[in-house]
Amino acid sequence: MKGVILAGGTGSRLRPLTNLMNKHLLPVGKYPMIHYSVMKLKEAGVKEILLVTGKQSAGLYTEYLGSGSQWGVSITYAVQEQAGGIAEALGLAERFIGRDKKFVMLLGDNLFQDSLEPFLRDFESQSEGAMVLLKEVPDPERYGVPVLTDGRIVHIDEKPARPKSSYSVTGIYFYDAEVFHVLKTCRPSKRGELEITDVNNAYALKGRLAYRILSNWWVDAGTHESLYEAIRQVWKEEEG
Ligand code: G1P
Repeated sequence: MKGVILAGGTGSRLRPLTNLMNKHLLPVGKYPMIHYSVMKLKEAGVKEILLVTGKQSAGLYTEYLGSGSQWGVSITYAVQEQAGGIAEALGLAERFIGRDKKFVMLLGDNLFQDSLEPFLRDFESQSEGAMVLLKEVPDPERYGVPVLTDGRIVHIDEKPARPKSSYSVTGIYFYDAEVFHVLKTCRPSKRGELEITDVNNAYALKGRLAYRILSNWWVDAGTHESLYEAIRQVWKEEEG
């Protein structure tokens, strides 16, 4: 299976740090944030990776990751001209993924402890559709929140004021190639972006959105506070 890492965006919640460089290059322990997504994919056997970045700091990514050979993977790059949302960035992966292929996609600011391997195996044996990974959190209103009925995701509410479950939809997604058709039916949201939650809801509506739950720590390092938390977790793991 191939992998896609999204590492664009403006990183507005991490200003002024992100005035200097793109969020996914900020240090998390010994490595820049992007290192962890690449390693998670590699450890799960996903070695053909497309990295989607914005224009900001694009050169620094090639400086750090190069062709990927130094890290035991092969990296292809795509540049998203403007921050048009996660789903728009995903659209840039169509040619890389190719026809009828399943793939895994990570948001580069998601750091986590679980191995991706068992989830990849599960998704490989799933005949069609998509799969998301959930994590129980104290503050679901910050994320996409699944509405679960009879053990199924019937809908995902994006950053709801009144969350209907205590789970967040993490930035770890598995799709079949149908996703590129689904994307073309999505329209920009109120914030002017193509939302990944709309894509996932299209699958949920057809009853084709599976899920699994992460057992260990997970952090969306998009704010100063959560970046600090990610550093703390990574550091603890290094020491342990
Ligand atoms: C995005 C998604 C959200 C998801 C989160 C996970 O939010 O829109 O559904 O829960 O990533 O990290 P963002 O962090 O871009 O606001």
